[in-house]
Amino acid sequence: MNLQERLEELKAQGLKAIKDSKKLKEINDIRVKLLGKKGQITEVLRGMRDLPKEERPKIGVMANRVRDELTNAISNRQDEIEIQKVAQKLEAEKIDVTLPGVPVKAGQPHVLSQIIDEIEKLFLGLGFQIVEGPEVEEDHYNFEMLNLPPDHPARDMQDTFYITDKTLMRTQTSPVQARTLEKHDFSKGPLKMISPGKVYRRDTDDATHSHQFHQVEGLVVGENITMANLKGTLQLVAKTIFGEDREIRLRPSYFPFTEPSAEVDVSCFKCGGKGCSVCKQSGWIEVLGAGMVHPNVLKMAGVDPETYGGFAFGLGPDRFAMLKYGVDDIREFYLNDLRFLSQFSQKG
Ligand code: DAH
Repeated sequence: MNLQERLEELKAQGLKAIKDSKKLKEINDIRVKLLGKKGQITEVLRGMRDLPKEERPKIGVMANRVRDELTNAISNRQDEIEIQKVAQKLEAEKIDVTLPGVPVKAGQPHVLSQIIDEIEKLFLGLGFQIVEGPEVEEDHYNFEMLNLPPDHPARDMQDTFYITDKTLMRTQTSPVQARTLEKHDFSKGPLKMISPGKVYRRDTDDATHSHQFHQVEGLVVGENITMANLKGTLQLVAKTIFGEDREIRLRPSYFPFTEPSAEVDVSCFKCGGKGCSVCKQSGWIEVLGAGMVHPNVLKMAGVDPETYGGFAFGLGPDRFAMLKYGVDDIREFYLNDLRFLSQFSQKG
């Protein structure tokens, strides 16, 4: 076979192999085999040394043309394969935007957060500030500043978890009263605040007890604040949470930090006051504690009880939610069972 025939053969074989190639790697191998330094075409060109001088240009021109043709064919095939690859990828990743979407399951605030949010909204509307206090609290604020000195018997009802002798998990949100009173500048106007948060008691968990639960503390101190202001404010709370038609009544009670103190009942939202199983036939349900701030509490916080006075209250969002929704076990709020929690959808 002479060089001319050899070139024709290489060209035909090469073009066929290029046409049949399916992958970029394959085509690269073909390029190396034909056109590389040790490739077949290069070999032919080298063979020209043995030709008579006059034949060399003809074969040279031919060899160059074959090399160009193969180079072009390789580059075209490479482009084709790349385009095919992209087309395949697009096909594989095709999405049908007209298909119905997969619904996203939206969450919702916890039922206790819902109650607290409602109370916060009400009090923000009344011009109160919302104050937070520490859950790890000093004995000083949790008890002493609230008129419960170290040996006060009322401490027994609020045993808790102690961090040190002087530091404990707060048993009530009332210490935030003392903390805020100490800081308040009365020349700028009365103090009106609520403080929602978690509290702790050394109780064994059962249907009505939880070692951790919630309270919302309320405090108004200024000039000429009366018990009528307290009653009007709590009436609004009862109506907001339990319904427009609710009434409240105050019964005498005892708290060390208020004098007089009251237990506050709301007219039964189930029977409207006639008497039913929810209100134990009394027509009333006890919902919170309140009273007029004890002069000692004001004095200890550096506030003059001759000039300033006010009221305070403490309510339990857990108890509110249990009454409002007929939940018979406080532990449900803390088990994170979606079957329970999703019943309190804000939409429905
Ligand atoms: N701190 C009381 C408790 O945990 C609740 C309470 C009662 C708060 C009367 C008050 C109040 O501010 O005036 O039992």
